[in-house]
Amino acid sequence: MMAHHCDNPIPLVVAAIDFGTTYSGYAYSLRDDFNKDPLKILINQKWGNDKTTCAYKAPTSILFDRDRKFQSFGFSAESDYTDLIDNGEEEGWRFFRRFKMSLYREIKSERGGRPVRRLGRDLNLEDEQGQRMPAMDIFSAAIRHLKDQLMNALMNAFMGLNPNDVRWVLTVPAIWSDAAKQFMREAAKQAGIDGKQLTLALEPEAAAIYCKENAVKAETEIGKSKDLSAFSPGEQFLLLDLGGGTVDITCHSVNRDRTLKEIESSSGGPWGGTVVDDAFFSFLKELVGRDVWKDLKENNRTEILEVENSFDMKKRDVKKDKHYMIKVGSAFIESYNKLNECDLAKQTLSESKCSSLVEVKRDKLKINGTQMIEFFQGPMNNIVQHLERLFMKPSMRRVTTILMVGGFSESDIMLKKIESSFPGKNVIRPIDASLAVLKGAVIFGHSPQAISERTSPRTYGISVSVPYIAKVHPEKTFHICDGNKMSTDVFHVMVKIGQQVVMGKTKVEYVCRPARAYDKVSTVEVYESTEENPGYTFDPGCQKLGELRVSMPDISKGKERRIRITMHFGFTELKVTAREEGTNNEAEVTFDCLR
Ligand SMILES: Nc1ncnc2c1ncn2[C@@H]1O[C@H](COP(=O)(O)OP(=O)(O)OP(=O)(O)O)[C@@H](O)[C@H]1O
Ligand SMILES: [Mg+2]
Repeated sequence: MMAHHCDNPIPLVVAAIDFGTTYSGYAYSLRDDFNKDPLKILINQKWGNDKTTCAYKAPTSILFDRDRKFQSFGFSAESDYTDLIDNGEEEGWRFFRRFKMSLYREIKSERGGRPVRRLGRDLNLEDEQGQRMPAMDIFSAAIRHLKDQLMNALMNAFMGLNPNDVRWVLTVPAIWSDAAKQFMREAAKQAGIDGKQLTLALEPEAAAIYCKENAVKAETEIGKSKDLSAFSPGEQFLLLDLGGGTVDITCHSVNRDRTLKEIESSSGGPWGGTVVDDAFFSFLKELVGRDVWKDLKENNRTEILEVENSFDMKKRDVKKDKHYMIKVGSAFIESYNKLNECDLAKQTLSESKCSSLVEVKRDKLKINGTQMIEFFQGPMNNIVQHLERLFMKPSMRRVTTILMVGGFSESDIMLKKIESSFPGKNVIRPIDASLAVLKGAVIFGHSPQAISERTSPRTYGISVSVPYIAKVHPEKTFHICDGNKMSTDVFHVMVKIGQQVVMGKTKVEYVCRPARAYDKVSTVEVYESTEENPGYTFDPGCQKLGELRVSMPDISKGKERRIRITMHFGFTELKVTAREEGTNNEAEVTFDCLR
């Protein structure tokens, strides 16, 4: 576990990277500008591989050469790789896209009761050609590229900027495991971002901050805002971040000073926009059969990539009574015909269950709107079911507003589904919904105190020894210590999971004594648990976070020395100190508490 300082000076520049499943981008703002207008945020618009494209985000695609050296990122990576294939030179090059979800999948196995496999630094990812590369290298090369571009932009914008004055913010889904978040932190470190200058921001939390800031501005500038009522003190709202990979949900209530207080732990699942793409591809696979599909995947990779990109665009404006031409390429039609010894265009499509919904026009598939909407059903139903369950909780009774952000929320089908499923709620989709996370991350970097309270995501405590009682304590905890019968490894709970903690304020203390009268160093082990009341530090769900060692060389008072242990919740970190009372002997360690 990496330690870093808690009390960061106010940053001169905040530079945020939104590392998405499908698209990534960056944005920044200067402290002076932020003080005048928090929404004065600069976003790179120069993504795109030709002069005509103007995009705020680039596809999260990355290309490495035969020596595994970074080649390109974003639109360039996609066109470089396509060129390589067209020239028959792709062998040995490594191309990865949409790889962020691999960190979520790893944790899923960790969650199903017992850990099946822990996400480690040694995780490998496989590219389309079946070539493996360490995930850490892929993630860090992508972050490094974004960081270098961002640094260039900063250097151009603010002459003479000292790189140490930059606060870096990297976004992570709230529902990721600690291991996945730690993985991103390490990838950022490997990309050259100093841990001391880095803050992780939870994606839905950042988006919530952005929406609030937007509404407040509308109020001050126009005098009123339709959305502001959701941010009046005492109001409660749910933020639904519909991304490409995951759906992340947080619930906040608004404090009198308009800071936000979390009222329910974040939740969500793998129901983002790419699930719609997956449904479409399963449909194609079924249409042409497994063999043709395999053949296509192996021999027509550029076409498949094109189909993916073209579908991603077509699905953005889906209406029931329209139809959609999706160019699948001649290879698709030809290989179907070749392997099935028939003509897809002429075949009586009634044989296939998709018949009335699809037609073939030269190298295109004509799909009707009803079928297009069908591809949305899976993720839509999962999201609605999850929200229904969430709204049943007592803590959620007063939540009246649903804020929808993220690229997938731009879908009108999605918006209508949420509106019709929750008629009693006020559903709001801000104008630049797909940039809310990115812009919010910049605001969060300037003012992490915008989130005032969180529900503790874990139980935190320390390992202590207590006098041994045979009937109470398990035998394996029995130890003789300094002549006394003790039970060791007892989990002393300091903060419980789900408990409200005030960021920057909540302090929990515990006083203990050294284990032995002659100890010149006392070691305090800090633990976390997913259980509310863990008994012992070796119980399932418990994990050691780290330890502190206080040196207390004066042993004249023996066991009468008192050690005061304090857990202090910072805005993004948990700081633990141990101090020998009446002396200056102290030790300190900090952990990420943005879990
Ligand atoms: N108008 C639209 N209709 C339907 N889907 C859309 C629309 N606009 C964008 N999307 C989808 O939204 C997704 C991208 O959203 P976003 O950029 O928020 O995700 P991300 O940040 O890449 O992913 P994540 O946050 O899960 O890591 C893509 O799957 C894209 O196809
Ligand atoms: Mg996102």
